[in-house]
Amino acid sequence: MLSFRLSAALLVMGMAFGASAASVRNEPVQPITPAEITDPAKVELGKKLFFDPRLSKSGFISCNSCHNLSMGGSDNLKTSIGDRWQEGPINSPTVLNSSLNMAQFWDGRAGTLKEQAGGPIANPKEMAFTHELAVEVLRSIPQYVAEFNAVYGKEDFGIDEITDAIAVFEETLVTPDAPFDLWLKGDDNALTEQQLAGYQLFKNSGCVACHNGVNLGGTSFQKMGLIEPYQTTNPAEGRAAVTGKDADRFSFKVPTLRNVELTYPYFHDGAVDTLTEAVDIMGRLQLGRHFTDEENAQIVAFLKSLTGKQPEITLPILPPSHDNTPRPVPFD
Ligand code: HEC
Ligand code: HEC
Repeated sequence: MLSFRLSAALLVMGMAFGASAASVRNEPVQPITPAEITDPAKVELGKKLFFDPRLSKSGFISCNSCHNLSMGGSDNLKTSIGDRWQEGPINSPTVLNSSLNMAQFWDGRAGTLKEQAGGPIANPKEMAFTHELAVEVLRSIPQYVAEFNAVYGKEDFGIDEITDAIAVFEETLVTPDAPFDLWLKGDDNALTEQQLAGYQLFKNSGCVACHNGVNLGGTSFQKMGLIEPYQTTNPAEGRAAVTGKDADRFSFKVPTLRNVELTYPYFHDGAVDTLTEAVDIMGRLQLGRHFTDEENAQIVAFLKSLTGKQPEITLPILPPSHDNTPRPVPFD
């Protein structure tokens, strides 16, 4: 009861700070605004689809399999596991706050969340389905038909409506009120001295040149290994895969640092398990800077102040398949 009162009081304090937007500190990072839900029925439908493994060939893999909302919207694996236990090519980025990124995927090949959502369903290494089959499965389930009808005004919905609903759900997956956000909004006590020192170092040493904006990332593509090359066996080319330009080889979308404490392992190849090592590598490879143990610990402490209020998800109960629903094919 006591802790409930305390968190309720903190919530009210957070709201009070949020109300006075004018008092937000003038920093290269801005606080997250809580999601405004304008169409709850669409969000609810999108949530069901996000959790529905029947969008995969095996009937076993959902978006949540690789973007687990119990684990910071990622899978905490080096690279993801797809259909028939296939080894994924790249680390799964978090879906939390992904609506705040300028583009989706490490190489930015999808411009919007809606465009992105069609990808994994039809990717043979991920959900291994086809858009046609996904539509056929959902259209065979009476409760889905009724829900799509209520939300989109049509029973003959297609992949367009499916990906739209998923994207609208994903837009609600923002994590406001991290300690750092409370500090940005004027609460001097929200950060420890060590965290504040870490933030000063983060700014002064140049991390913020790439990790900036609301998401501390997601605003540009940057070369991995600017000063010193990054050693990896992962064949991903980065942005060059989209632009075809040699200059974009090994440029990746700068990942968000929001909730980074939860989204290990790090980097596009998932090769690094700890924040301590990730900060050390970033310092040396991107800035030519060797942090002392104390400086490294300060930056890591700052990064942990970026863990926000996680979306509260009530597990959706999915409508049962109908007699006519095509059945999953987990094994060939
Ligand atoms: C088998 C694992 C797997 C499944 C299933 C999966 N994803 Fe992903 N997702 C990934 C990986 C890996 C990437 C990064 C791919 C890349 O950048 O090339 C990714 C990238 C993304 C991104 C981009 C985030 C960013 O910041 O760039 C979003 C959003 C996303 N997935 C949403 C979804 C949705 C919605 C579904 C369900 C329709 C889904 N994913 C299913 C593994 C998965
Ligand atoms: C020149 C731009 C640039 C600078 C400067 C920079 N970063 Fe990065 N950062 C990136 C890019 C690009 C990646 C993704 C690289 C990859 O995955 O191959 C990244 C990844 C990270 C990651 C891993 C995130 C994840 O989810 O995988 C952390 C943590 C990080 N940076 C922290 C820092 C810190 C701390 C500093 C300052 C010491 C810093 N960065 C400086 C561009 C930059």
